[in-house]
Amino acid sequence: MTPEDKKRAAAEAAVAYVKPDSIIGVGTGSTVNHFIDLLAAKMAGQITAAVSSSEASSERLRALGIRVVDLNDIGKLDLYIDGADESNTRLELIKGGGGALMREKIVAAASREFICIADDSKLVATLGAFPLPVEVIPMARELVAGELRELGGEPRLRAAFITDNGNQILDVHGLHIEDALDLETRINQLTGVVCVGLFARRPADRLILSGDDGIRTLQS
Ligand code: 5RP
Repeated sequence: MTPEDKKRAAAEAAVAYVKPDSIIGVGTGSTVNHFIDLLAAKMAGQITAAVSSSEASSERLRALGIRVVDLNDIGKLDLYIDGADESNTRLELIKGGGGALMREKIVAAASREFICIADDSKLVATLGAFPLPVEVIPMARELVAGELRELGGEPRLRAAFITDNGNQILDVHGLHIEDALDLETRINQLTGVVCVGLFARRPADRLILSGDDGIRTLQS
């Protein structure tokens, strides 16, 4: 199976969790793109609407005939489907490879259930081989970079990239994250940080992993 086949298989398994007449949260990335395509193909006209975590996903949803609504008009969501860059077995995640971490965290926080979909290469023993994205207010970029170095990381500015919120991203290399909740809290407290792509305070509830042997589901 190619990596794309695996992403598609994980996305297909997630469609089974979507209830007709519901409003669902939809994340961002290549795995989620498969999910959006399959959702439109299999449940066209059956779901009420989606709350999206990025302009890119909103555009894809709308192009396939799925209505996109504002979270402020909805309140709590029953279900959020999104990908990840890494997950540990506690279903704590690194996210933000696509730069949508802030809105992804908002939609995850607003959702009763968060199902993460990924190919099996994303499951790791310890988070941190994937550089940790940190969204920063541009004016504070160097200030935050210095603090991240103090925490043991090596921040690198994501070149030619501006988030949907008008901010920049520092990708932090060289971390070996044993206590994800503690690091999430520390980075959140740095002045100038908008969001850190660690999802430990609100991990996934379920991780659908696709591999050569089929689908495996982990629950927190
Ligand atoms: C975007 C994300 C994505 O979920 C993450 O980068 C995984 O992407 P892909 O499915 O393309 O591997 O967090 O901000």
